[in-house]
Amino acid sequence: MITPEQVRSRLDEVLVPHVVRSLHYMNLIRDITITDQRINVTLASTALDVNTQGWISSKIEEALHGLTDVTEVHVEYTDLKPSELNQIGNVIAVMSGKGGVGKSLVTGLTAIALRRKGCEVGILDADITGPSIPKMFGIVDRPGGNDSGMLPVTSKSGIEIMSINLLLPSEDDAVIWRGPLIGKAITQFWEEVVWGNLDYLIVDLPPGTADAPLTVMQTLPISGVIVVFTPQDLTAMIVRKAVKMAQQMDKRVLGVVENMSYLYIPEIDKKIEIFGKSRAEEMAVAANAPLIGKLPLDPDLARLCDAGQIERYDSDIIAKLGESIANSTSVKMPPGQGKND
Ligand SMILES: Nc1ncnc2c1ncn2[C@@H]1O[C@H](COP(=O)(O)OP(=O)(O)OP(=O)(O)O)[C@@H](O)[C@H]1O
Ligand SMILES: [Mg+2]
Repeated sequence: MITPEQVRSRLDEVLVPHVVRSLHYMNLIRDITITDQRINVTLASTALDVNTQGWISSKIEEALHGLTDVTEVHVEYTDLKPSELNQIGNVIAVMSGKGGVGKSLVTGLTAIALRRKGCEVGILDADITGPSIPKMFGIVDRPGGNDSGMLPVTSKSGIEIMSINLLLPSEDDAVIWRGPLIGKAITQFWEEVVWGNLDYLIVDLPPGTADAPLTVMQTLPISGVIVVFTPQDLTAMIVRKAVKMAQQMDKRVLGVVENMSYLYIPEIDKKIEIFGKSRAEEMAVAANAPLIGKLPLDPDLARLCDAGQIERYDSDIIAKLGESIANSTSVKMPPGQGKND
């Protein structure tokens, strides 16, 4: 007898073109019916053009005919909105009181840390006028999709990414849009992208506490906020401002991250606080939230970001970051990696 589990396991072999993720993780499988030796699979057609649907159907037929006793495989499609497919455990926004403190870097490293823990992770680049996520991850492919939805681009380590940079004719083109349009673009990235099943969607916010971060807080179901700062921030005021905004919007501050906290010199095994004394603990108190981590100013990290290879960064910092975020959120970890194991 053919079981639904056997069918699902065979369907896992079929990866959705462009996004290169399984039908299961894209949440496209809507129904499986097994009658004697006949299998009927219903998929969502969202973001899939007719050619792609045909390709997927033939791959499914091939995979399922590999099961013993199967005599007939039928694949049909049903129209659904991306928002009917998306199942996202935690939406985490990364914000700061001012620009250039390393928000995008922290967004990238957080996503990498959670991915290395075995989670399904996506990044929504909500910095519409200054997007930098695709460059850090070395992504140049254009997102797939059609009128019914957009497919994100998947990074080398399997992180789904959507950014305005991937949609512009040239990545150097500037986006000179007014507030309402920017808000619309962010809302579209939330509503019209097929993210599928994700444990975490990390949102890289534009700097400050103006219109665009406000839109994200209002339109996305943010479950927590990470606030980034550097020792150069002369007063706790800037951090407080960001924290206050999150609190006013009823969003939980998961924690704070001090970036460029120190420079480590291996030859003398010393940490030098080149931007001044760390104020991490003080900022954590100001934010009334835990200190998630202190990131060093690391020339290797800067080089990897510039080369689009941030995923190659190897440091204890990443594991610690992943641990802290996982502990402060409520996602079931894969066996052997969870906080409750
Ligand atoms: N800890 C670090 N070590 C080395 N380089 C870093 C570090 N933090 C940030 N950088 C570099 O500094 C630059 C600015 O960082 P990033 O783009 O993350 O800042 P941001 O807060 O997102 O800026 P914006 O406000 O413009 O969005 C990047 O080129 C990044 O590579
Ligand atoms: Mg940025």
